Amino acid sequence: MKHLTYSKEVQELTTPQELTARTPLAERGGVLSEAGQWRGLSVFVKTLMVDDPDAQARFHHEGRVAAALNHPALVPLLAASPTQLIFPFVTGGTLRERLEKGPLNIDEATSVGLGLLRGVAYLHGQGVTHQDLKPENVLLQDGLARWDTVRIIDFGMSHALHLPLDIHSGTRMGTPHFMAPEQFYGMRGDARSDLYSVGVLLFDCLAGEPPYADALGWLAGIHTKRAELPGPEALHPLLRAALSRDPAQRPGSAVGMHDELCQARLALGLPALPHADLPEAAVKVLHGTREDCAAEDGGF
Ligand SMILES: Nc1ncnc2c1ncn2[C@@H]1O[C@H](COP(=O)(O)OP(=O)(O)OP(=O)(O)O)[C@@H](O)[C@H]1O
Ligand SMILES: [Mg+2]
Repeated sequence: MKHLTYSKEVQELTTPQELTARTPLAERGGVLSEAGQWRGLSVFVKTLMVDDPDAQARFHHEGRVAAALNHPALVPLLAASPTQLIFPFVTGGTLRERLEKGPLNIDEATSVGLGLLRGVAYLHGQGVTHQDLKPENVLLQDGLARWDTVRIIDFGMSHALHLPLDIHSGTRMGTPHFMAPEQFYGMRGDARSDLYSVGVLLFDCLAGEPPYADALGWLAGIHTKRAELPGPEALHPLLRAALSRDPAQRPGSAVGMHDELCQARLALGLPALPHADLPEAAVKVLHGTREDCAAEDGGF
Protein backbone atom coordinates (compact mmCIF):
# COMPACT_ATOMS: atom_id res chain seq x y z
CA MET A 1 0.00 0.00 0.00
CA LYS A 2 1.32 3.46 -0.90
CA HIS A 3 1.86 5.99 1.82
CA LEU A 4 1.61 9.64 0.98
CA THR A 5 5.03 11.24 1.06
CA TYR A 6 6.10 14.71 0.07
CA SER A 7 7.40 14.82 -3.45
CA LYS A 8 11.01 16.00 -3.47
CA GLU A 9 10.10 18.44 -6.21
CA VAL A 10 8.00 20.62 -3.89
CA GLN A 11 9.84 23.50 -2.24
CA GLU A 12 8.90 24.01 1.38
CA LEU A 13 9.12 27.74 2.14
CA THR A 14 8.99 29.33 5.55
CA THR A 15 7.84 32.79 4.47
CA PRO A 16 5.11 33.96 2.11
CA GLN A 17 6.41 34.73 -1.34
CA GLU A 18 6.12 38.06 -3.14
CA LEU A 19 4.47 37.80 -6.53
CA THR A 20 4.86 40.29 -9.34
CA ALA A 21 2.16 41.09 -11.89
CA ARG A 22 -0.41 39.92 -9.34
CA THR A 23 -3.96 39.50 -10.57
CA PRO A 24 -6.57 38.50 -7.98
CA LEU A 25 -8.96 35.93 -9.46
CA ALA A 26 -11.32 34.94 -6.66
CA GLU A 27 -11.69 34.74 -2.90
CA ARG A 28 -13.61 31.85 -1.42
CA GLY A 29 -13.74 30.11 1.94
CA GLY A 30 -10.98 32.37 3.28
CA VAL A 31 -8.63 31.56 0.40
CA LEU A 32 -7.52 34.12 -2.18
CA SER A 33 -6.62 32.82 -5.67
CA GLU A 34 -4.26 34.91 -7.75
CA ALA A 35 -2.27 34.70 -10.94
CA GLY A 36 1.20 36.21 -10.96
CA GLN A 37 4.89 35.80 -11.61
CA TRP A 38 7.25 34.10 -9.17
CA ARG A 39 10.93 33.37 -9.86
CA GLY A 40 10.31 33.95 -13.55
CA LEU A 41 7.38 31.53 -13.74
CA SER A 42 3.70 32.18 -14.38
CA VAL A 43 1.99 30.87 -11.29
CA PHE A 44 -1.44 30.31 -9.77
CA VAL A 45 -1.30 30.96 -6.04
CA LYS A 46 -3.76 30.20 -3.27
CA THR A 47 -3.27 32.25 -0.10
CA LEU A 48 -4.95 31.50 3.21
CA MET A 49 -6.44 34.79 4.42
CA VAL A 50 -8.14 33.84 7.70
CA ASP A 51 -7.29 32.45 11.16
CA ASP A 52 -10.31 30.14 11.27
CA PRO A 53 -9.03 26.67 12.32
CA ASP A 54 -11.36 24.80 9.94
CA ALA A 55 -10.23 26.87 6.97
CA GLN A 56 -6.61 26.37 8.02
CA ALA A 57 -7.07 22.62 8.37
CA ARG A 58 -8.69 22.39 4.92
CA PHE A 59 -5.95 24.52 3.37
CA HIS A 60 -3.16 22.43 4.85
CA HIS A 61 -4.92 19.22 3.88
CA GLU A 62 -5.14 20.40 0.26
CA GLY A 63 -1.45 21.32 0.36
CA ARG A 64 -0.35 18.00 1.82
CA VAL A 65 -2.32 16.00 -0.72
CA ALA A 66 -1.10 18.13 -3.63
CA ALA A 67 2.49 17.89 -2.37
CA ALA A 68 2.38 14.11 -2.49
CA LEU A 69 1.17 13.86 -6.08
CA ASN A 70 3.19 13.92 -9.23
CA HIS A 71 1.59 12.98 -12.53
CA PRO A 72 1.18 14.71 -15.93
CA ALA A 73 -2.63 14.64 -15.65
CA LEU A 74 -2.51 16.70 -12.42
CA VAL A 75 -1.25 20.23 -11.81
CA PRO A 76 1.84 19.85 -9.61
CA LEU A 77 2.43 21.87 -6.47
CA LEU A 78 5.63 23.88 -7.01
CA ALA A 79 6.09 25.35 -3.56
CA ALA A 80 4.26 25.88 -0.29
CA SER A 81 4.62 28.20 2.67
CA PRO A 82 2.33 27.94 5.71
CA THR A 83 -0.15 30.30 4.03
CA GLN A 84 0.55 29.82 0.33
CA LEU A 85 0.24 27.08 -2.28
CA ILE A 86 2.06 27.87 -5.52
CA PHE A 87 1.16 26.00 -8.71
CA PRO A 88 2.23 26.58 -12.32
CA PHE A 89 -0.36 28.66 -14.17
CA VAL A 90 -2.01 26.49 -16.82
CA THR A 91 -3.13 28.50 -19.83
CA GLY A 92 -6.16 27.36 -21.79
CA GLY A 93 -9.00 27.53 -19.27
CA THR A 94 -11.25 24.93 -17.68
CA LEU A 95 -13.30 22.16 -19.23
CA ARG A 96 -16.33 24.17 -18.01
CA GLU A 97 -15.26 27.12 -20.19
CA ARG A 98 -14.71 24.78 -23.14
CA LEU A 99 -18.14 23.15 -22.73
CA GLU A 100 -19.83 26.54 -22.60
CA LYS A 101 -18.95 26.80 -26.31
CA GLY A 102 -20.75 23.49 -26.99
CA PRO A 103 -20.23 19.72 -26.69
CA LEU A 104 -17.01 18.02 -27.71
CA ASN A 105 -16.95 15.69 -30.68
CA ILE A 106 -16.73 11.93 -29.98
CA ASP A 107 -12.98 11.76 -30.52
CA GLU A 108 -12.36 14.71 -28.18
CA ALA A 109 -14.86 13.59 -25.53
CA THR A 110 -13.49 10.05 -25.31
CA SER A 111 -9.92 11.32 -25.39
CA VAL A 112 -10.63 13.74 -22.51
CA GLY A 113 -12.37 10.85 -20.70
CA LEU A 114 -9.22 8.76 -21.05
CA GLY A 115 -7.10 11.65 -19.78
CA LEU A 116 -9.34 12.00 -16.73
CA LEU A 117 -9.20 8.26 -16.04
CA ARG A 118 -5.43 8.25 -16.38
CA GLY A 119 -5.21 10.93 -13.68
CA VAL A 120 -7.86 9.28 -11.51
CA ALA A 121 -6.18 5.85 -11.83
CA TYR A 122 -2.96 7.45 -10.60
CA LEU A 123 -4.77 9.11 -7.68
CA HIS A 124 -6.49 5.90 -6.65
CA GLY A 125 -3.18 4.04 -6.91
CA GLN A 126 -1.81 6.59 -4.40
CA GLY A 127 -4.68 6.01 -1.98
CA VAL A 128 -6.35 9.33 -2.82
CA THR A 129 -9.93 9.94 -3.94
CA HIS A 130 -10.66 13.36 -5.42
CA GLN A 131 -14.34 13.64 -4.40
CA ASP A 132 -15.00 16.82 -6.36
CA LEU A 133 -14.43 15.99 -10.03
CA LYS A 134 -16.35 18.49 -12.16
CA PRO A 135 -15.58 20.57 -15.26
CA GLU A 136 -14.44 23.55 -13.14
CA ASN A 137 -11.76 21.32 -11.61
CA VAL A 138 -10.32 20.18 -14.95
CA LEU A 139 -7.97 22.44 -16.89
CA LEU A 140 -7.24 21.88 -20.58
CA GLN A 141 -3.68 22.89 -21.44
CA ASP A 142 -3.75 25.40 -24.32
CA GLY A 143 -7.51 24.89 -24.58
CA LEU A 144 -7.09 21.55 -26.39
CA ALA A 145 -9.55 18.74 -25.56
CA ARG A 146 -7.25 15.71 -25.55
CA TRP A 147 -6.11 12.98 -23.17
CA ASP A 148 -2.68 14.58 -22.78
CA THR A 149 -3.96 18.12 -22.10
CA VAL A 150 -6.16 17.17 -19.13
CA ARG A 151 -4.92 18.65 -15.81
CA ILE A 152 -6.97 17.79 -12.73
CA ILE A 153 -6.91 20.41 -9.94
CA ASP A 154 -8.41 21.19 -6.54
CA PHE A 155 -7.70 18.62 -3.83
CA GLY A 156 -9.68 20.61 -1.27
CA MET A 157 -12.31 17.86 -0.94
CA SER A 158 -10.06 14.87 -1.48
CA HIS A 159 -9.67 12.01 0.90
CA ALA A 160 -6.26 10.47 1.41
CA LEU A 161 -5.55 7.31 3.32
CA HIS A 162 -3.08 8.13 6.12
CA LEU A 163 -4.07 11.77 6.39
CA PRO A 164 -6.04 12.58 9.51
CA LEU A 165 -8.45 15.15 8.14
CA ASP A 166 -11.75 13.95 6.79
CA ILE A 167 -12.88 16.91 4.74
CA HIS A 168 -16.23 15.34 4.14
CA SER A 169 -17.90 17.06 7.06
CA GLY A 170 -20.54 18.93 5.13
CA THR A 171 -18.55 22.16 5.13
CA ARG A 172 -18.50 22.49 1.37
CA MET A 173 -21.24 21.24 -0.87
CA GLY A 174 -20.44 21.49 -4.56
CA THR A 175 -22.70 21.28 -7.57
CA PRO A 176 -25.00 18.25 -7.29
CA HIS A 177 -24.60 17.35 -10.98
CA PHE A 178 -21.28 15.56 -10.58
CA MET A 179 -21.74 14.24 -7.06
CA ALA A 180 -22.41 10.52 -6.58
CA PRO A 181 -25.62 9.61 -4.73
CA GLU A 182 -23.75 8.13 -1.77
CA GLN A 183 -21.90 11.44 -1.32
CA PHE A 184 -25.22 13.27 -1.39
CA TYR A 185 -26.44 10.98 1.40
CA GLY A 186 -23.58 12.11 3.60
CA MET A 187 -21.26 9.16 3.20
CA ARG A 188 -17.65 9.75 2.40
CA GLY A 189 -17.31 8.65 -1.20
CA ASP A 190 -14.76 6.11 -2.35
CA ALA A 191 -13.00 5.37 -5.62
CA ARG A 192 -16.33 4.43 -7.20
CA SER A 193 -17.76 7.85 -6.38
CA ASP A 194 -14.99 9.38 -8.50
CA LEU A 195 -15.92 6.97 -11.33
CA TYR A 196 -19.54 8.19 -11.13
CA SER A 197 -18.25 11.76 -11.51
CA VAL A 198 -16.09 10.76 -14.50
CA GLY A 199 -19.21 9.17 -16.04
CA VAL A 200 -21.10 12.46 -15.64
CA LEU A 201 -18.13 14.37 -17.05
CA LEU A 202 -18.05 12.08 -20.12
CA PHE A 203 -21.81 12.53 -20.54
CA ASP A 204 -21.41 16.32 -20.24
CA CYS A 205 -18.58 16.36 -22.81
CA LEU A 206 -20.73 14.43 -25.31
CA ALA A 207 -24.06 16.15 -24.65
CA GLY A 208 -22.91 19.63 -23.63
CA GLU A 209 -24.91 19.25 -20.43
CA PRO A 210 -25.03 16.81 -17.50
CA PRO A 211 -27.60 13.96 -17.35
CA TYR A 212 -30.18 15.41 -14.96
CA ALA A 213 -31.75 18.86 -15.26
CA ASP A 214 -32.89 18.40 -11.65
CA ALA A 215 -29.87 16.62 -10.21
CA LEU A 216 -30.93 17.14 -6.60
CA GLY A 217 -34.29 15.47 -7.32
CA TRP A 218 -32.52 12.47 -8.84
CA LEU A 219 -29.99 12.23 -6.00
CA ALA A 220 -32.81 12.34 -3.47
CA GLY A 221 -34.63 9.57 -5.37
CA ILE A 222 -37.61 11.80 -6.26
CA HIS A 223 -37.41 11.15 -10.02
CA THR A 224 -35.43 9.16 -12.60
CA LYS A 225 -35.69 11.63 -15.49
CA ARG A 226 -32.30 11.27 -17.09
CA ALA A 227 -31.62 12.78 -20.52
CA GLU A 228 -31.07 10.28 -23.36
CA LEU A 229 -27.57 8.84 -23.30
CA PRO A 230 -25.50 10.94 -25.74
CA GLY A 231 -23.01 9.78 -28.35
CA PRO A 232 -22.82 6.46 -30.17
CA GLU A 233 -24.23 3.24 -28.73
CA ALA A 234 -20.75 1.79 -28.28
CA LEU A 235 -20.36 4.19 -25.34
CA HIS A 236 -23.71 3.52 -23.69
CA PRO A 237 -22.92 0.42 -21.58
CA LEU A 238 -19.99 2.28 -20.02
CA LEU A 239 -22.01 5.45 -19.43
CA ARG A 240 -24.92 3.48 -17.98
CA ALA A 241 -22.64 1.54 -15.62
CA ALA A 242 -20.70 4.61 -14.47
CA LEU A 243 -23.92 6.51 -13.73
CA SER A 244 -25.41 3.70 -11.64
CA ARG A 245 -26.96 4.72 -8.36
CA ASP A 246 -25.47 1.57 -6.82
CA PRO A 247 -21.64 1.84 -6.61
CA ALA A 248 -21.37 -1.95 -7.02
CA GLN A 249 -22.80 -1.63 -10.56
CA ARG A 250 -20.13 0.87 -11.63
CA PRO A 251 -16.85 -0.09 -13.33
CA GLY A 252 -14.56 -1.88 -10.87
CA SER A 253 -11.69 0.57 -11.11
CA ALA A 254 -10.43 3.60 -13.02
CA VAL A 255 -8.09 1.30 -14.94
CA GLY A 256 -11.02 -0.98 -15.86
CA MET A 257 -13.08 2.01 -17.01
CA HIS A 258 -10.07 3.25 -18.98
CA ASP A 259 -9.78 -0.15 -20.70
CA GLU A 260 -13.48 -0.14 -21.57
CA LEU A 261 -13.29 3.36 -23.01
CA CYS A 262 -10.26 2.32 -25.08
CA GLN A 263 -12.24 -0.67 -26.42
CA ALA A 264 -15.18 1.58 -27.27
CA ARG A 265 -12.88 3.94 -29.16
CA LEU A 266 -11.51 1.02 -31.17
CA ALA A 267 -15.05 -0.22 -31.91
CA LEU A 268 -15.85 3.28 -33.19
CA GLY A 269 -12.81 3.24 -35.49
CA LEU A 270 -11.06 5.98 -33.52
CA PRO A 271 -7.29 5.75 -33.22
CA ALA A 272 -5.80 4.00 -30.19
CA LEU A 273 -4.15 6.44 -27.80
CA PRO A 274 -0.86 5.71 -26.08
CA HIS A 275 -1.28 4.90 -22.40
CA ALA A 276 1.63 3.04 -20.97
CA ASP A 277 1.63 4.70 -17.58
CA LEU A 278 -1.40 3.35 -15.72
CA PRO A 279 -0.44 2.40 -12.17
CA GLU A 280 0.42 -1.22 -11.67
CA ALA A 281 -1.27 -1.33 -8.26
CA ALA A 282 -4.60 -0.32 -9.77
CA VAL A 283 -4.22 -2.87 -12.58
CA LYS A 284 -3.58 -5.61 -10.05
CA VAL A 285 -6.65 -4.59 -8.10
CA LEU A 286 -8.65 -4.78 -11.31
CA HIS A 287 -7.50 -8.31 -11.98
CA GLY A 288 -8.02 -9.33 -8.39
CA THR A 289 -4.44 -10.38 -7.73
CA ARG A 290 -4.01 -8.14 -4.71
CA GLU A 291 -6.24 -10.02 -2.35
CA ASP A 292 -5.74 -7.70 0.55
CA CYS A 293 -6.64 -4.56 -1.36
CA ALA A 294 -10.25 -4.24 -0.26
CA ALA A 295 -9.44 -4.60 3.41
CA GLU A 296 -6.25 -2.60 3.26
CA ASP A 297 -7.09 0.19 0.86
CA GLY A 298 -10.77 0.61 1.43
CA GLY A 299 -11.64 -0.78 -1.99
CA PHE A 300 -9.06 0.87 -4.23
N1 LIG B 1 -2.96 26.06 -11.99
C1 LIG B 1 -3.95 26.81 -12.48
N2 LIG B 1 -3.77 27.53 -13.60
C2 LIG B 1 -4.75 28.30 -14.10
N3 LIG B 1 -5.98 28.42 -13.53
C3 LIG B 1 -6.23 27.73 -12.41
C4 LIG B 1 -5.23 26.88 -11.83
N4 LIG B 1 -5.77 26.30 -10.73
C5 LIG B 1 -7.03 26.77 -10.62
N5 LIG B 1 -7.32 27.63 -11.63
C6 LIG B 1 -8.59 28.36 -11.82
O1 LIG B 1 -9.10 28.75 -10.55
C7 LIG B 1 -10.35 28.12 -10.29
C8 LIG B 1 -10.46 27.71 -8.84
O2 LIG B 1 -9.40 26.83 -8.51
P1 LIG B 1 -9.63 25.66 -7.46
O3 LIG B 1 -10.74 24.82 -7.94
O4 LIG B 1 -8.33 25.01 -7.19
O5 LIG B 1 -10.03 26.53 -6.20
P2 LIG B 1 -11.24 26.43 -5.19
O6 LIG B 1 -11.11 27.59 -4.28
O7 LIG B 1 -11.20 25.12 -4.58
O8 LIG B 1 -12.44 26.66 -6.09
P3 LIG B 1 -13.89 26.04 -6.07
O9 LIG B 1 -14.32 26.07 -4.64
O10 LIG B 1 -14.60 26.99 -6.96
O11 LIG B 1 -13.76 24.67 -6.62
C9 LIG B 1 -10.43 26.95 -11.26
O12 LIG B 1 -11.76 26.58 -11.57
C10 LIG B 1 -9.67 27.50 -12.47
O13 LIG B 1 -10.52 28.36 -13.21
MG1 LIG C 1 -12.46 24.07 -7.72
